[in-house]
Amino acid sequence: MDAWSVLKALWLFLPAYVANMSPVFTAKLLPKWSAPIDGGRTLEDGGRMLGDGKTWRGLAGGAVTGGIASTLIALGAGPGSTAFFAGWDFGYGDGSPLWAIFLFGAFVGFMALTGDAVESYFKRRTGRARGAPWIPFDQLDFVAFGLIGMALASPLLASGWIVEMVFLDWIVLATLLIGTVALHLLVNRVGYWLKLKEVPW
Ligand code: CTP
Ligand code: MG
Repeated sequence: MDAWSVLKALWLFLPAYVANMSPVFTAKLLPKWSAPIDGGRTLEDGGRMLGDGKTWRGLAGGAVTGGIASTLIALGAGPGSTAFFAGWDFGYGDGSPLWAIFLFGAFVGFMALTGDAVESYFKRRTGRARGAPWIPFDQLDFVAFGLIGMALASPLLASGWIVEMVFLDWIVLATLLIGTVALHLLVNRVGYWLKLKEVPW
């Protein structure tokens, strides 16, 4: 068991975590940009396709914040860093250009919130109202889609970097799939205490 892999997992997945948390902030920042992705559409079962909680603003904000997160991570962990996270820089020190690292994070953030929207589709199909909890899918949707996003966007980065750092390290994958559920439940509760979220899950 390599404890560093646990930290590496949490660190490298920050673009997805940040993107996943960003919609509540972008909603406060741009309350009027609330156009829902499903355009208000209702399906044959009488439920909304996705619901008013899934907006274009949230999706776009997730991409932007994911890109900012990966860029800051690369700058903080890149050449010259002496912190414990030195080298966990999306290959910045191995030749990944900064613009490609930004695009990588943006795509991962976009995919994280796509997963969130896909989950809402299934929540509506199973009769769950907007905001109703659905543990553990609430937590795993963006992890699964964030990982798929990392795999798809990996050619943007220095050759083989993501594969070696994430996909060949089973501790990283296990941390993301198990640790994230616990972390997400904790973060949402803190968001509720801070009155950023209306429900504690
Ligand atoms: N949000 C958004 N656009 C998105 C995702 C989230 O604007 N693509 C905002 C909405 O204001 C939403 C809040 O972030 O209410 C919390 O997100 P989430 O918990 O994912 O949505 P819910 O309202 O709980 O809806 P659902 O039941 O569909 O998950
Ligand atoms: Mg919710």
